[in-house]
Amino acid sequence: MMNFRISSPEQYEVAYRRSVEDPEGFWDQIAKEYHWFEPWHKTLEWEFYTPSVKWFIGGKTNITYNCLDRHLKKRGNKLALIWEPNDPKEKFVRLTYRELYERVCQYANVLKRNGIKKGDRVAIYMPMIPELAIAVLACARIGAVHSVVFAGFSAVSLADRIKDAGAVAVLTSDGLNRGTKQIPVKRVVDEAISMGCDTVKKVIVTERLGWAVNMVDGRDVWLHDELKHVTKECPAEPMDSEDLLFILYTSGSTGKPKGVVHTVGGYMVYTGYTFLNVFQYEESDVFWCTADVGWITGHSYLIYGPLLNGATTLMFEGIPTYPDAGRFWQVVDKYGVNIFYTAPTAIRSLMAAGIDHVLSYSLDSLKVLGTVGEPINEEAWNWYYIHVGKERCPIVDTWWQTETGGILISALAGISKLKPAHAGLPLPGTQPVLLDQDGNEIPGNDVEGYLCIRHPWPSMIRTTYGDHDRCRQTYFSAFKGYYFTGDGARRDTEGLYRIIGRVDDVINVSGHRFGTAEIENAINLCKKVVESAVVGYPHDIKGQGIYAFVVTAEPVINPDLIQAEIIESVVAAIGKIARPDKIQFVSGLPKTRSGKIMRRILRKVAEGDVSNLGDTTTLLDPAVVDEIIEGARLVK
Ligand code: WT7
Repeated sequence: MMNFRISSPEQYEVAYRRSVEDPEGFWDQIAKEYHWFEPWHKTLEWEFYTPSVKWFIGGKTNITYNCLDRHLKKRGNKLALIWEPNDPKEKFVRLTYRELYERVCQYANVLKRNGIKKGDRVAIYMPMIPELAIAVLACARIGAVHSVVFAGFSAVSLADRIKDAGAVAVLTSDGLNRGTKQIPVKRVVDEAISMGCDTVKKVIVTERLGWAVNMVDGRDVWLHDELKHVTKECPAEPMDSEDLLFILYTSGSTGKPKGVVHTVGGYMVYTGYTFLNVFQYEESDVFWCTADVGWITGHSYLIYGPLLNGATTLMFEGIPTYPDAGRFWQVVDKYGVNIFYTAPTAIRSLMAAGIDHVLSYSLDSLKVLGTVGEPINEEAWNWYYIHVGKERCPIVDTWWQTETGGILISALAGISKLKPAHAGLPLPGTQPVLLDQDGNEIPGNDVEGYLCIRHPWPSMIRTTYGDHDRCRQTYFSAFKGYYFTGDGARRDTEGLYRIIGRVDDVINVSGHRFGTAEIENAINLCKKVVESAVVGYPHDIKGQGIYAFVVTAEPVINPDLIQAEIIESVVAAIGKIARPDKIQFVSGLPKTRSGKIMRRILRKVAEGDVSNLGDTTTLLDPAVVDEIIEGARLVK
């Protein structure tokens, strides 16, 4: 175990103060706990204008050396990865550190055999099977840049991401299991590549369902065939601290999703540090993060953070409600899970399914609970605390983002004071501030403002792939000299942070981010649509639901038919997860004289609160508002 555990509130105070007074000295000491092929000569260089941030400059390391090789002597026979399949009757997989090491080396050799080299971008479009984690680590091992694309995204989305990154290969599977459904993943990959992904030279296919799939000669290979030709040894490539580790696409308020870039050294140091301290992992604990590896949570706290600490990490292929809504708890009991990390949306949906599912299991092994992805309401927090944690497990409400790489604001399990619906205090190394509209820091407590960070932390975003100016514009231009998170937050009387939610045009649906513009573009692809405006509204299970106001070319005669077509457009352009929950047909959108849609009004209508619409005098056609309010009553 690495020597940077915080074990008391006093130690937190000391660490936090040190991290602010001497950030470089602080991180220097932590980074030295890891294995480096060559030490760094300078800890940090930064400015938040271009921006440019570099950590552990000149240092050479490999994150997989730290995740695997380093543990072989002491933990060779310890379980690294437990895999629970979708179907509880199917056999699970358990890999020790030695076995995972060998599997990663073999896969890395398969990559090399297929011409994939250091610096190449590799798209990974795979279900939650062990080979997904192995593929991610195999890329990192040889210095290829992984770009994992959640396997629920559509072919168009996958193609966009492959093209943006210039990926030379796609790692995939024949198909995937999801509850009672089976989905032909390889077919989606073929479709995506046919949309002009000319950079792709190789497709490596893992067998999951045993389905016959189309294999393109010279391009597509089966993993099980390739494995016959490789050894179980593959030395970890020494990587520069600032070499790219991965790209992960995420939505923002404008344009297409952007490729958030994380680099090797800082990401490694920070995810390892935060995993240990937030969850207070102990050597024999089984840790379960329910997130898909397609999201940052899966990267940082299913794979890298746990393995860096020699932890046992559990990966689950299925969904919380299959075969029934007790599945999570059944898995907890089956493996004696000690630390359980999930999303508020999952908690709310299981809460809605009824208490009996929880009461059927003992859940005795649980010590620590965590949540991530969206604000957790007090009702869900209490349910989780009382019925899952039996009032003895601290809940860490971890606030962070794809761009932050790791958790920035959270309680430390069992150490910090808990307050429902509050993320809590910043972790050491994180300097959050609340700014007012003019960019002034709001001092003191019991205040609210735009959540920004004023000093770099090791795992922060370095750039948006292929377009550095977009990174500057998105995160560093709203408030000069600060990283802007896009969230609004409150600091309570004791300095604990409570995240209020996005202040930009981003909707958080079940912990997943979508730009309103992105969904509108998808809706507008439907031939019958002239224009649309999308807003979020409070949704009991999803946190936020998607509400679309749509203007059609012809009067709507069969609304169900057009709705189905609109949904089809969104599913094709983005994926099922971005389907609008409500669609309202309107004759026009409320626009200002300069043509800007007044989303404030639409948000109010979607929320069902039209008592105070504010100033509508600048509207081009105020009458349209009455029609929209009237029409909203009929929306299902
Ligand atoms: C946005 C980032 C990083 C984990 C998964 C989401 C919201 C995240 C919390 C939390 C309230 C939260 C924020 C943030 N968010 N965690 N504990 N409490 N809100 O990653 O897709 O990059 O989304 O999720 O709005 O900006 P993401």
